[in-house]
Amino acid sequence: MFGKTFSHYLGVLLGSELPQTQTTLAERDLLKKYIPGKKRIVEIGVFEGFTTQVLAEESDPDSTIYGVDPFFRGRLAISWGLQITKQYNRKYLASGKLRLVQTLSTEVGTQIPIPVDFVFIDGDHSLGGITADWEFWTSRIVSGGIIALHDTVLKPDQPKSAELGSHHYFQSHIQQDFRFDFIDQVDSLSILKKR
Ligand SMILES: C[S@@+](CC[C@H](N)C(=O)[O-])C[C@H]1O[C@@H](n2cnc3c(N)ncnc32)[C@H](O)[C@@H]1O
Repeated sequence: MFGKTFSHYLGVLLGSELPQTQTTLAERDLLKKYIPGKKRIVEIGVFEGFTTQVLAEESDPDSTIYGVDPFFRGRLAISWGLQITKQYNRKYLASGKLRLVQTLSTEVGTQIPIPVDFVFIDGDHSLGGITADWEFWTSRIVSGGIIALHDTVLKPDQPKSAELGSHHYFQSHIQQDFRFDFIDQVDSLSILKKR
């Protein structure tokens, strides 16, 4: 496992591999549609920073992307996700347009100024995790702001046993939240706008 991850990191370093991501091309295209005009953009769950770079590329020049992830460390206390993210996003990290907030999504404290304009929730997909994120971030987003949620819809070929807390909570709570309008969806990504 160490060798596999290290060789992947080397591949990204040398430009022969891209960071991994669970988002589809259609989902990234949908994110791009709602990014222009948003100034404070938060991604919860950076992983290897692939979608992060899409957010940085598509946002206005004076926008800031806050990439929140504890970057859990593996063997030898190394987070390859963090190393890959830093390498792949070095241009936006150097310019200051991208800031990595290395903590849990509900423990960002004052590291992210509020209110924010756009939140992409793709971190802890357990029921407890998505519940905490929804409660924390919905009060920190501006009226007219966008919340994008990943893993909200099971694919037609996925069995019910593949259901995550994020799927369940989306149906049982988020879709009924009167503070938000449900405005778009593709694959497993849902977009809501705060009233
Ligand atoms: C599905 S991956 C994110 C994928 C990424 N958004 C992309 O598009 O490629 C989930 C990430 O969430 C992070 N994570 C897990 N729990 C978290 C939490 N409570 N707060 C922030 N990030 C969390 C994990 O470390 C992991 O890197």
